[in-house]
Amino acid sequence: MTVVTIDGPAGSGKSTVAAALAARLGVVHVDTGAYYRAATLAVLRAGADPSDAAAAEAAVSGARIERRAGRTMLDGRDVEDEIRGPLVTAAVSTVAAHPAVRRALLPLQRAEVGDAGAVVEGRDAGTVVVPDADLKVWLTASPQERAVRRAAQRGVPDAAAVAAHAADISRRDRLDARQMVPSGGAVEVDTTGRGVPEIVDELVRLALSAAGQRT
Ligand code: DC
Repeated sequence: MTVVTIDGPAGSGKSTVAAALAARLGVVHVDTGAYYRAATLAVLRAGADPSDAAAAEAAVSGARIERRAGRTMLDGRDVEDEIRGPLVTAAVSTVAAHPAVRRALLPLQRAEVGDAGAVVEGRDAGTVVVPDADLKVWLTASPQERAVRRAAQRGVPDAAAVAAHAADISRRDRLDARQMVPSGGAVEVDTTGRGVPEIVDELVRLALSAAGQRT
């Protein structure tokens, strides 16, 4: 079955494109960032310092993180909305940078990918989570467009909001840099100025052709 990875920086359009592509291909959409967000919530709830690797690892190894029908569960409770909030967003890059945290979450992410086909989005989906994916996509967009999209998602995209998001996005890019290495065989798709349906059409064509070459 077809496995597509979609990696790229915050605001590149990964989540929207990955969800639409998964629906078109009839496979699950695995959001690997949700695991890092849930792990970060576990760290914050434990009162641990997100930059303390040992404390973060202890909090994460004591937490039960699951994904059910597109929702994220922490210790049996639905935390999908909370993990998208500002407290988790501010700390997640710091928690995700700890190698021990990444090692703990990898088997959970791979289990969700399963073997029935998937669209897997993240930063290292094509390099680490599913290195043998049929199609690997590296999604990009200009820094200005990424900031405008984030501001629009959160409310009114006025100049002050866009500037604040631009600063936050460049901070997260720096922190996420180690994970953000495009996989060797990744197809780079620049989403700047393009609509979601057009990009998804392109990826469906690429995915079907990649799957056809495999069989
Ligand atoms: O895609 P997102 O914004 O929900 O990701 C949240 C954070 O998790 C982001 O700062 C980078 C990190 N992340 C990661 O390190 N590796 C992944 N495969 C996915 C996300």
